[in-house]
Amino acid sequence: METAISEIADGIFRLSTFVPDIAPPQGFTFNQFLIRGDEPMLFHTGLRLMFPMIHSAVSKLISVERLRWVAFGHVEADECGAMNQWLAAAPRAEVAHGQTACMVSVNDMADRAPRQLADGEAIDLGGKRVRYRDTPHIPHGWEAGVLYEENTRTLLCGDLFTQTGNGPALTESDIVGPAIAAEDMFKYSSLNPGMGATIRKLAEFSPLTLALMHGPSYKGDGAAALHALADSYDRRVIDSVNAAGLMQHDREAA
Ligand SMILES: [Fe+2]
Ligand SMILES: [Fe+2]
Repeated sequence: METAISEIADGIFRLSTFVPDIAPPQGFTFNQFLIRGDEPMLFHTGLRLMFPMIHSAVSKLISVERLRWVAFGHVEADECGAMNQWLAAAPRAEVAHGQTACMVSVNDMADRAPRQLADGEAIDLGGKRVRYRDTPHIPHGWEAGVLYEENTRTLLCGDLFTQTGNGPALTESDIVGPAIAAEDMFKYSSLNPGMGATIRKLAEFSPLTLALMHGPSYKGDGAAALHALADSYDRRVIDSVNAAGLMQHDREAA
């Protein structure tokens, strides 16, 4: 395994490690994003076991001791497993996350106190500016949230649009169809009635680039892709509610 580095927007670098043993035969990528600025930020820490590889990749872009912010979408090993290894490697680094994540998990899990962000709050990275948005339970995790980098109009999507395979670093091809296929395969989302509305709210950013944690980055009409994803989840939620209603009807008729 090796970690490939690509600049997917001005000063935003995708560090991608392909793992062929997950979801074979297509395999699966794990991506971190380094945002270069006066106060560099790493979005997703990677797994603890991948830390040496990802540390080596980050050190090709910045001196790791300069890393100022460590952020991630929700609490899972691939998102934040190496959090404390980064805090140890970069003495000025702080974890930044939403109020729910800090209250429920990060205040206890992080070796240094995190910076707690309100929904909609921004951090100025010096040359880049990231805004945090709560997305509770979407695609999973009560504490889930995303970041939007305003200068490049890049939405750091976390697990939204997850797809299998090892595609190009940056694509202009459809990412919604592959995301629907991966949802069918993994069933990784917490289907809930708020899904469509929450994903449509992200479309208000009108992102030019969507940075996927598992899949290529997408360049194009980000709002249209988010609307299409929201529609697909609304259909999925309605179908599952209808199926539950039919089961209830059958139980009552029996
Ligand atoms: Fe996840
Ligand atoms: Fe993930």
